[in-house]
Amino acid sequence: MPTGRRHAGGYTLTKPVYFIGFMGAGKTSVSQYLALTLGLASLDADEYLELLEDRVIADIFAEDGEDAFRDLETRYLKEISERSPRLIGCGGGVVKRAQNVRIMKEHGYVVYLGVTADEAAARIPNTDSRPLFKNLDVARKTVAEREPLYEAAADVYVSTTGREVPEIADEVRDRLLESGVLVKES
Ligand code: S3P
Repeated sequence: MPTGRRHAGGYTLTKPVYFIGFMGAGKTSVSQYLALTLGLASLDADEYLELLEDRVIADIFAEDGEDAFRDLETRYLKEISERSPRLIGCGGGVVKRAQNVRIMKEHGYVVYLGVTADEAAARIPNTDSRPLFKNLDVARKTVAEREPLYEAAADVYVSTTGREVPEIADEVRDRLLESGVLVKES
């Protein structure tokens, strides 16, 4: 596996950091905030997939179905994991496939950002781009179904309920420093 690169901010990642959790948990926002404040590379796995497939996720679901999307998700997760370590915002359903969890555990460190379905709904202004966020009842059920999967995949859990991105990011940064995944250059 490639070793961590040095960045201007004086911090290095020793392995990839995967953010998991339900839609609206703040995976992309927290990873981008940390990337900016610590001078690290970040990548949103869904954006990467959309770029390389040249299609938005809603269209992939509508045209080819969820299984086809999950196959692509696994392919690109593997690809991203082989690159130099970075902060990776994963799609909310990444834990649905055991193979994805194995890839993340084998290569890196997994941060589970917890959110309730009700708060997630309040954070997502337009759910049209998220084919699996059909309505609040379905979202509540999905969160309950996925919680054990997120917990089993996670190295660390960080609650986001009632918290803003900088506060969540500070806690994640501290956990990464403690675990040795994030190293401050002297
Ligand atoms: C999904 C979450 C989405 C996206 C796809 C499926 C899910 O990502 O991967 O719509 O199954 O929860 P975000 O969690 O980034 O919204």
